[in-house]
Amino acid sequence: MTTPSSYPLIMMRGIVKKFNIGSEEELTVIPGVDFDMHSGEFVAIVGASGSGKSTLMNIIGLLDRPTEGQYFFAGTDVLNSTDDALSSYRSQNIGFVFQNFNLISRVDALKNVEMPLMYAGVGRKERAQRAEELLAMVGMADRMHHLPTQLSGGQKQRVAVARALANEPNLLLADEPTGALDSATGRMVMDMFHDLHQNQGVSIVFITHNPELAAECSRTQTMVDGRFVSTPDHGVHTVAAPLLAAAETTSPIAEIPSGEGSSAGVSHPLGSPGQPATATDAQSSTTADKE
Ligand SMILES: Nc1ncnc2c1ncn2[C@@H]1O[C@H](COP(=O)(O)OP(=O)(O)OP(=O)(O)O)[C@@H](O)[C@H]1O
Ligand SMILES: [Mg+2]
Repeated sequence: MTTPSSYPLIMMRGIVKKFNIGSEEELTVIPGVDFDMHSGEFVAIVGASGSGKSTLMNIIGLLDRPTEGQYFFAGTDVLNSTDDALSSYRSQNIGFVFQNFNLISRVDALKNVEMPLMYAGVGRKERAQRAEELLAMVGMADRMHHLPTQLSGGQKQRVAVARALANEPNLLLADEPTGALDSATGRMVMDMFHDLHQNQGVSIVFITHNPELAAECSRTQTMVDGRFVSTPDHGVHTVAAPLLAAAETTSPIAEIPSGEGSSAGVSHPLGSPGQPATATDAQSSTTADKE
């Protein structure tokens, strides 16, 4: 699931997000963020409630556009696209896991996992087969015909992870995926992320309030008032050697200065140290039809 591109998976520069909160009033939630991430990384984002983590995650996941800034995903200037193009790019490249699972409550686990494949136009037989394989991979083979209401929290999150992986995304975005789970179940979900990262090369951005879980990731970005502040490095880097070599290649956007969110310890092409609509229409919608 790693991108074959020689570019960083994510390169963001000067991302600003303002919300209109009245006819004349604007709220600046993200005053300016630079963020780089290479394929194969498992990055934690931590920070106080209201610091802007989910707002940034929605921008990373192409669910929302920033007010200002540049965003290159695997070398593609994704913000210079129509909403339809963005949506299709998102469904092909990004999977989402949310705190509250966001499963469709009226259909079983199998159909939930099939949903992004259906949006992607995959035929009935193939998508059922792929959904079964994914559910087996997350240990849910014996529950695939259960409705979300018939599953425990941990089981629901496993189904949500299987759904997020349906279109073989380059990037898995998880917004407090263990937040609604007890610690043992949260552990199980975290172990599943480690397995996906280490054994299947899935790149992950993981928002959490749990410092112990954050410390297990390759690195941590701490958000304060919509900015990244420096965080001590965990000293664990899991970027594969070929990707490091690729990172040495010249980027077409080399004129953009690297910033505070750069991948620490990873040689960077810019020379600095460092649902929903498918996985997405079904996942990002906020209808009451969720479990
Ligand atoms: N659509 C919106 N309109 C106006 N303000 C918003 C909107 N979405 C988020 N905000 C504000 O942006 C700030 C950051 O919100 P965000 O959800 O990104 O925080 P967070 O770090 O994810 O918090 P938590 O840890 O509680 O999930 C908050 O002050 C919130 O009220
Ligand atoms: Mg949040």
